[in-house]
Amino acid sequence: MLAIIAALEEELSAIVAAAQAEGELRSEIVAGVTLMHATLAGQQVVLARSGVGKVAAATTATILAERVSGMILVGTAGGLGAAVNPGDVVVATELLQHDLDARPLWDRWVSPVVGTARIPVDAYLTAALAAAAVGACSRHRNELAELGVENPTIHPGLIISGDVFVATAQGSQRLRDELPDALAVEMEGAAVAQVCAAAGVPFAVARTISDRADHDATVDFTVFLRKIAAPYARDLVLGALRVLS
Ligand code: ADE
Repeated sequence: MLAIIAALEEELSAIVAAAQAEGELRSEIVAGVTLMHATLAGQQVVLARSGVGKVAAATTATILAERVSGMILVGTAGGLGAAVNPGDVVVATELLQHDLDARPLWDRWVSPVVGTARIPVDAYLTAALAAAAVGACSRHRNELAELGVENPTIHPGLIISGDVFVATAQGSQRLRDELPDALAVEMEGAAVAQVCAAAGVPFAVARTISDRADHDATVDFTVFLRKIAAPYARDLVLGALRVLS
């Protein structure tokens, strides 16, 4: 059984609606986290809204780790890579906590639990998400065009996570200087990655780019969230589940 995680209500709502269309949801609250047991694309899944930030994401992933055989995290992210723009999808190949710095105990960014800075994803789940991203991008061409996005692109690569919404040009430039291959920044992925790596649970992360992590980020993010975050996340997840079935 797979768990599907998103941080925000807006990112999970269309997935919940798709599950409700397939049958009844059974909710259970564990340590304050609501788990929704459901059927999606004909498969048993657990849906969970983690809330924003690494602690919330790690809590949710820890609760799920004993209950599922894999986790998929979807939602939005700020684009950092030069060619990573709103409407694109970044499928993580590895994740890193950009605000983790325990020097001199360990090198910068190294997660002590895992022993590396960069935590690799599960190739099998990730291939399914990448395949689903192709369909999601083409299906939402019209809504994306309304937001000025002409050619949504899929980028595989490094996603970085930290407990900060990056909304200044200086903030995103600092991250680019320090981690030139980082494609996107968000607030949960590397936390789920650390928990899954420690627990030996396969996981994958796909993020739709909502903003460029600059001064316009707050406006872009809000508009994007309202207009397309939910159906985009739904199509990524449904598509991946179909590939995996
Ligand atoms: N999620 C979406 N946009 C983001 C940003 N600019 N910074 C951090 N997390 C985000």
